[in-house]
Amino acid sequence: MSHPAVELDGIWKRFPGVIANAGASLTVRPGTVHAVLGGNGAGKTTLMNCLAGVYLPDEGTVRIDGEEVRFSSPADALSAGIGMVHQEFRLVPVFTVAENVVLGAAPSVLDMAEINQKVAALADRFGFEAEPTRPIWQLSMGERQRVEILKALWRDAKVLILDEPTAVLTPQEAVELGSVLRQMVSEGRSVIFISHKLDEVTSFCDEATVLRDGKTVASSVAIADVDAGQLAELMVGSVSVQQVAPRDATPGDVVLAVDNLTVVDSRGITAVDDISLSVHSGEIVGIAGVAGNGQRQLTDTIAGLDVAQAGTVTISGTDVTALTTRHRVDAGLAYVPEDRLGVGLAPKLPITHNAVMRGYRTMRRGPMLSWDRARAYATGLIEKFDVKIGRMEAPMASLSGGNLQRLLLGRELSDDPRVLVASQPTRGLDVAGVAAIQNLLLEQRDAGAGVLMVSEDLDELLALADRIVVMSEGRIAGEFDPKQVSRTEIGEAMMGAQ
Ligand SMILES: Nc1ncnc2c1ncn2[C@@H]1O[C@H](COP(=O)(O)OP(=O)(O)OP(=O)(O)O)[C@@H](O)[C@H]1O
Ligand SMILES: [Mg+2]
Repeated sequence: MSHPAVELDGIWKRFPGVIANAGASLTVRPGTVHAVLGGNGAGKTTLMNCLAGVYLPDEGTVRIDGEEVRFSSPADALSAGIGMVHQEFRLVPVFTVAENVVLGAAPSVLDMAEINQKVAALADRFGFEAEPTRPIWQLSMGERQRVEILKALWRDAKVLILDEPTAVLTPQEAVELGSVLRQMVSEGRSVIFISHKLDEVTSFCDEATVLRDGKTVASSVAIADVDAGQLAELMVGSVSVQQVAPRDATPGDVVLAVDNLTVVDSRGITAVDDISLSVHSGEIVGIAGVAGNGQRQLTDTIAGLDVAQAGTVTISGTDVTALTTRHRVDAGLAYVPEDRLGVGLAPKLPITHNAVMRGYRTMRRGPMLSWDRARAYATGLIEKFDVKIGRMEAPMASLSGGNLQRLLLGRELSDDPRVLVASQPTRGLDVAGVAAIQNLLLEQRDAGAGVLMVSEDLDELLALADRIVVMSEGRIAGEFDPKQVSRTEIGEAMMGAQ
């Protein structure tokens, strides 16, 4: 019998105040797509970093094709055939697709034209569409991800690790990724696939290993033998997952109005093109659309992080177009941006500082911040929103993806905002987390907040939104009643076909 492609055995990895991996194991057979599952903070990313040479495990063994290895860098792992696509891409924006693919591994005798050809041929073999000469900055997240995958394939990776790859993809791109994965395994390669989306796991993967609290609680479960419900139970234990059951909305006054808003982005391209929309108190307006069609510039401009070239933003009756973010917060705005660590949170500051950034003015003792009150407040937030952390003094960036998200949402929702603008609020959350956050959004709505929610998850919009507005190329391409509309109709509007 052939050796497993990957064997991780008894892996321990400790960080100050937290044990990320506590004797975890994983066995991946060649020619399979293997899911690694677990709740937020279960230790999935850390375990993969131990396999991909980012971390050296404190204890335990790593075997590739039956041979024990010790990688001291990602380059080491790559030369042994282990490639990893991280959730934050590591591409050079001004370089072309082909330049990024071959960066650091270019055969010196080839000229650029030949390299372009070879990269195109490689892409073709895996059924990718890739234009080798386009610069990265022009590409969507889905296209960038393909470049990352091509980079690993160019180096002939035998095992490809994908950490939550579909979190940034449109539904269509996710389906395409599935067929690329099938092509890879048909060539005898293996794929390790981390995802919180159980329907993808059941349709793309052959086997699954489940982590909980840094330990392996189920190994190499055959996907054919389980359903999504059973996988969810393995991940979160016996805790039942609360389903969302929205009631009908009772909209009140307009709390957020955007009138003829135009925003030109840093490249000089009109990202938001004369958009008008309003959100009433007590309703959720969902914005659907393929990423990169102006959603980010729209929400950033509402929050005061981007500048309007024309038009106005009105919050609770106050024209805030020329006012600062602080003034908008005072007018009742809460904002959960798409870029959590770049905009929403300060990655290097401790968790406590991040937790109190919104409400610190209520924690004063005289003119000074009361650290006792700040810490008490932060601790309360962490308990209420079930954020898994090590020490309060740890830098924000050390939290797992899903836990960052919980802290940010918790902070923004804690003082019952009148207007909540949330971009991809459940991206990267585990099943229990998704249900918890969706329920929170509905609670806010029922308490009278106006919610503007951007999501690429159509099912989520259909379940939560009272109205769906589709954005395409910076314009509104249609408004729909979620109870009346079909997925196809929304999909067509997303593609700009009205
Ligand atoms: N560099 C680090 N420093 C300190 N703590 C860390 C570091 N990396 C991870 N951790 C902690 O280790 C635990 C496991 O994190 P990890 O990122 O592996 O979880 P995960 O399963 O990938 O979660 P998610 O689904 O939210 O991405 C978390 O409690 C996290 O805060
Ligand atoms: Mg992770």
